[in-house]
Amino acid sequence: AWRPDGDDDRTRRTGSAVKVRVPAKINLHLGVGPLRPDGYHELNTVYHAISIYDELTARRGDTLTLTMEGEGAGELALDETNLVIRAARALAAHARVPAHARLHLRKQIPLAGGLAGGSADAAAALVACDALWGTGLSRDELAEIAAGLGSDVPFLLHGGTALGTGHGESVSPVLARPTTWHWVVAVAERGLSTPAVYHELDRLRAESAAPAPLGPADDLLAALRQRDPAVLGAALGNDLQAAALALRPALADVLKVAQAAGALAGIVSGSGPTCVFLAADAAHGGRIAAELAAAGVCREARTAHGPVPGARVI
Ligand code: C5P
Repeated sequence: AWRPDGDDDRTRRTGSAVKVRVPAKINLHLGVGPLRPDGYHELNTVYHAISIYDELTARRGDTLTLTMEGEGAGELALDETNLVIRAARALAAHARVPAHARLHLRKQIPLAGGLAGGSADAAAALVACDALWGTGLSRDELAEIAAGLGSDVPFLLHGGTALGTGHGESVSPVLARPTTWHWVVAVAERGLSTPAVYHELDRLRAESAAPAPLGPADDLLAALRQRDPAVLGAALGNDLQAAALALRPALADVLKVAQAAGALAGIVSGSGPTCVFLAADAAHGGRIAAELAAAGVCREARTAHGPVPGARVI
């Protein structure tokens, strides 16, 4: 059969826009071990991808450019320091192709929120450029490049619920019967610096002013298997929470309001300042979000569910 020049699957895929959707993450368990000589902390974490998404569109171009809209537009640098640009360049170098693309980011994940928004965008850039350029890297190769970009980037390629070790970059899936968990996500007015929160934890620990380290995630993994939100709620834990609360004492009010509103449990997400609350179902989540919004203790309260897949072409 006759086909117009170049109109095969490959050029159709590489010739037009590629759109990738990537989720935010929370940590159901974040056990922070000692500070390593390389400046990272040893982690035992359980990552969980939730339904708050960024979208990255990649088109052909003569150079590498990035534009954006949504959360953080006007604040986030779009130059060579941006994780999207760094990810595209890292992939191009690995695959020995020119780093030529026009990238556009639609952001819904707040900046510096403890939801790994920057890492999510890096993961999205790897998947989008791999498709645009037809470089066809394996998931393992992408994960290796991802690990060089940030601790959470490999997980955001992966998605779902997964165990993270090393400094977070080493990811293995948690096998569990599919269960959907319902979350309320309280977004703060201003972000927190991740290194500052880790540093504050080191300081608190040096003064013996931090709670005992959580250690491995065994209890959380057992709770996940029970598929009961009350059981999961009791097992949530985050070693960075004390540090985030020390740097942002007002977060205690967010936790208190949600508890009074009937949340099954609440924790600071990652390094914060976003707080996440477990709800019994979607309607329960909606009521908690409404009470948080009414109390005026956060910029925005959103509902979400998880687990959801990682960075994917849509
Ligand atoms: O890996 P990523 O660039 O996202 O990490 C940002 C910062 O968070 C690191 O520079 C480090 O200060 C801190 N961090 C840490 N231990 C980890 C992960 C991150 O101390 N396991």
